[in-house]
Amino acid sequence: MTRRYKVAVLGATGAVGREMLTVLDEQHFPASEVIALASSRSVGEEVEFGHRKLKVRLAEPSAFDGVDIVLASAGSAVSKLLLPEAVRRGALCIDNSSAFRMDPDVPLIVPEVNPEALAAHKGLVANPNCSTIQMVVALKPLHDAAHIQRIVVSTYQSVSGAGKKGIDELSTQTISLLNQRPFDVTVHHARIAFNTVPHIGTFMDNGYTDEEWKLVRETRKILEEPDMRVCPTCVRVPVFAGHSESIALEFERPITAAQARTILEAAPGVTVVDDPAEKRYPMSMDCAEKDDVFVGRIRQDESVAHGLCLWVVADNLRKGAATNAVQIAQLAIARGWVHGAVH
Ligand SMILES: NC(=O)c1ccc[n+]([C@@H]2O[C@H](COP(=O)([O-])OP(=O)(O)OC[C@H]3O[C@@H](n4cnc5c(N)ncnc54)[C@H](OP(=O)(O)O)[C@@H]3O)[C@@H](O)[C@H]2O)c1
Repeated sequence: MTRRYKVAVLGATGAVGREMLTVLDEQHFPASEVIALASSRSVGEEVEFGHRKLKVRLAEPSAFDGVDIVLASAGSAVSKLLLPEAVRRGALCIDNSSAFRMDPDVPLIVPEVNPEALAAHKGLVANPNCSTIQMVVALKPLHDAAHIQRIVVSTYQSVSGAGKKGIDELSTQTISLLNQRPFDVTVHHARIAFNTVPHIGTFMDNGYTDEEWKLVRETRKILEEPDMRVCPTCVRVPVFAGHSESIALEFERPITAAQARTILEAAPGVTVVDDPAEKRYPMSMDCAEKDDVFVGRIRQDESVAHGLCLWVVADNLRKGAATNAVQIAQLAIARGWVHGAVH
């Protein structure tokens, strides 16, 4: 007899939602039933769940009757509308949108980093932004060792970070350019094929984008360091899967590159790939469809007293979204916070 849980994937036809179904299947999640929810545009379509196909149902309040766990990735507006309804019906909701991330009543969780914060949940848990997740997984063990004082991070973010429309735009622009045909720019602000675009999200009055500011605010909340100095630049690159980050860190106490490598080799959820002489370093193409965060190019920052530079890569649809959400669900089950039923 095992306890099993009814799971709803909200946004099941999207880039993250499809990955959630894959991760649930791969990890043999103890589900009694998995239901796929999306908008009226997709009702009746089928999505893959392992070897099975699930018929997409309409995301409406009554769809959450009897659901134990909701994994949501249908955007902020849908989360704000529907997740309170699911919570009211007794479900634990794990939300990938930015709707509730900075709400003081909603824990913002990366299981390798701040699992204890999950205890404060009131039915809603937020998954951080993809760029934040991979950064804090790599930084937390170094922070514990030598106390980070300042983070300078530049991201190289794949088009799948902008969902299925972002993926399609890189494909169609690439084909059109190679065939000397005209093309549209609708998702990535400028042509993304054979280009890099230093603009993700919306510019704010301080000159940063809201995407960049997520890295500042979410990192402070997760690490419980409200004054942590973070200087981000977010760039979209013509890569389908996997975000890369160049990170320069300043520490309070001395830490060598060799010490950092040893610490990271023992860190949960981290794989160190760091042998530049053998051309071994993390690359987005090697990290696609993997669940870990990959760290390499670990070296001293010789321009400051106690500094390190790192190159950090992860699949934004996996650890940056689906894997992290499923891990939160597993953590909640392990702590006995989801009821389910004995089968
Ligand atoms: N992509 C990433 O790397 C990533 C990482 C972390 C977090 N996120 C967040 O996850 C969310 C989804 O991202 P995505 O990349 O998967 O986007 P996406 O590929 O555009 O998918 C959006 C999903 O939301 C559904 N949806 C849209 N409007 C809806 C409505 N009114 N009612 C019900 N469902 C609706 C869509 O269903 P239809 O097919 O029926 O339109 C689709 O399943 C966003 O909040 C995003 O910020 C994304």
